[in-house]
Amino acid sequence: MTQGSELVIRVADLKKHYGDVRAVDGVTFEVARGEVFGMLGPNGAGKTTTIEVLEGLRPPDSGTVEVLGLDVLRHPQSIKQRIGVQLQSVSLYPRLTVTELLDLFGSFFNHHVPTKQLIDAVDLGERAHAWAMNLSGGQQQRLSIALALVNDPELVFLDEPTTGLDPQARRSLWDLIRGLQDKGTSVMLTTHYMEEATELCNRVAIMDHGHILEMGAVSDLIGRRFRERAVFFDSNPKLPMELLARLGGVSRAAQEEGQTVLYSNDVPGTVGALLATADEVSVEPRNLGIRQATLEDVFLDLTGRALRD
Ligand SMILES: Nc1ncnc2c1ncn2[C@@H]1O[C@H](COP(=O)(O)OP(=O)(O)OP(=O)(O)O)[C@@H](O)[C@H]1O
Ligand SMILES: [Mg+2]
Repeated sequence: MTQGSELVIRVADLKKHYGDVRAVDGVTFEVARGEVFGMLGPNGAGKTTTIEVLEGLRPPDSGTVEVLGLDVLRHPQSIKQRIGVQLQSVSLYPRLTVTELLDLFGSFFNHHVPTKQLIDAVDLGERAHAWAMNLSGGQQQRLSIALALVNDPELVFLDEPTTGLDPQARRSLWDLIRGLQDKGTSVMLTTHYMEEATELCNRVAIMDHGHILEMGAVSDLIGRRFRERAVFFDSNPKLPMELLARLGGVSRAAQEEGQTVLYSNDVPGTVGALLATADEVSVEPRNLGIRQATLEDVFLDLTGRALRD
């Protein structure tokens, strides 16, 4: 985040406990205008609780919570006009149509986007006159996002927007979220999916047991822990390990299931040296590839557990 950029979210030492459950236990983060910020964490991490405090739906026990420069506890109504909220679980009026629901929600706001434009944005044109109860799961999800956009918000909260969607519907929602960012809308989303966080988010907070464990750009989070990348190819007797281990940038060479893996902190240097060496003995490394650590590896390294079981 650039210093001095305008903040749309400022949270400091936020706490929210339910009896003995420390759902959110001292969380601090900021989101700048125009950012897509993701909270990634397993079930029960405290993501929904955090987001609902920000939306003004739950009072915090303690801490500072500002949205669009305003204190959430003191200015809930003016904030609500300017944010969009997609809840993790919604029950829509089952016998209103897509069009009726969007018209109705639009009427709650001083300023709202034409219903047709919203329907097109989430690709529900063919279902415009269907009852909410007759939409598929993915269509309901898209409707709930359209409802979050009725007031053309400056900041949109999306709680697991793509959970339960098929890969195609997920990608079309990713496009929608990118489109929001292109027009300057700030987005805070939660997700269990590391690919989603990697694809969409400028910055990510990894949350577990009410705490933020790490925060930053995905590439930084990975780079902080995993400096090396792996260059791999099908093993070939003409390329012995002793030789490969001495190539530029290589810190370690290993054999794994018929593949040779070179751990390198200088991938271009290593690949260049490998191709030159292979050329000298007239072989071409087959199925050559480069593998990088992922957010999943970061989470595993932080917690000793997989993100999803
Ligand atoms: N209204 C409530 N009353 C009591 N406990 C609650 C309440 N809401 C949430 N919790 C507890 O707080 C913790 C955090 O829940 P939260 O819903 O914020 O997690 P989450 O990260 O959104 O999880 P998920 O990925 O499953 O949506 C959990 O242990 C949950 O059981
Ligand atoms: Mg949740």
